[in-house]
Amino acid sequence: MELLNAGNEVVVLDNLSNSSEKSLERVEALTGKKVAFYKGDILDRGILEKIFAEQKIESCIHFAGLKAVAESVAKPWEYYNNNISGTLTLVDVMRENGCKNIIFSSSATVYGDPAEIPITEDCPKGQCTNPYGWTKSMLEQILMDLQRADNAWNVILLRYFNPIGAHESGTMGENPNGIPNNLMPYITQVAVGKLKELGVFGDDYDTPDGTGVRDYIHVVDLAVGHVLALKKIRENAGLCIYNLGTGHGYSVLDIVKNFEEANGVQIPYVIKERRPGDIAACYCDPSKAERELGFRARYGIRKMCEDSWRWQKNNPNGYQE
Ligand code: UFG
Repeated sequence: MELLNAGNEVVVLDNLSNSSEKSLERVEALTGKKVAFYKGDILDRGILEKIFAEQKIESCIHFAGLKAVAESVAKPWEYYNNNISGTLTLVDVMRENGCKNIIFSSSATVYGDPAEIPITEDCPKGQCTNPYGWTKSMLEQILMDLQRADNAWNVILLRYFNPIGAHESGTMGENPNGIPNNLMPYITQVAVGKLKELGVFGDDYDTPDGTGVRDYIHVVDLAVGHVLALKKIRENAGLCIYNLGTGHGYSVLDIVKNFEEANGVQIPYVIKERRPGDIAACYCDPSKAERELGFRARYGIRKMCEDSWRWQKNNPNGYQE
């Protein structure tokens, strides 16, 4: 939607394994613009070749990948195959077609347990605690090596912190399959009455209130970051790495409190054991993205909580009618 609003033409490839075509219909309704949509998989070379034959592709923003941390521990082969082989196939078809601009969805998870906080892009990458994280870390390495070997490539790695929120129209948002793993969708499902109470994973971390601290960023701000990265890539960026976050850390209990106050609802919670693989605190220094991309997150935590709730309240069953 932000890409269209900024005047770009957009072609989407999605296998819809964890998403709905309805979200694209809603983007089209809100923007009054069309999106060319292909249903398919990046592991399928045929559909990639068909798209490049039918469309004039200048740059790829590569979001496609499996992303559930716990599932990746149970199904490592599926994660490595889908995320790594899928990207290798995509990149191969791109270069065959002379398209060498790629923006890659990476993650703060590549820092592992960060050596310093706030995390700058110079902070060394760390040990990931799960196959999902390793796929992000390895793919960063693969794309960097590709760019070093052939500087016709422009590669921008965007390290997302914790995206939450939804479009403020209340018509587009997150709709995880099954019981949510992430904090905000869990909270909204408690608020809407689908889940009884939130389990807070640990209250004995070395943080102000003992619960985990993260850098939550509104999903629309995150989208704007991609529009700015696209502008940068058109200036022959070479290799660039940016953190996309707000630079503010909020604990689990801060989020619960902000959600309750912003929306006038109660979120019952119980303290549980720490979740394996979790770290105490993770927030970024966002100044490089501001300096080089002109990116600055506009929305604060209240707005993130309000928009998440509006989406969930209006669409208790996600995109199902
Ligand atoms: N949490 C709870 N209860 C829940 C869910 C989460 O207390 O039911 C806590 C977690 O312990 C953590 C915080 O809320 O302290 C945020 O947890 P999320 O699962 O929402 O997010 P994570 O920071 O664990 O993971 C996110 C993305 C990953 C990515 C990682 C990178 O989901 O894909 O950030 O930092 F790898």
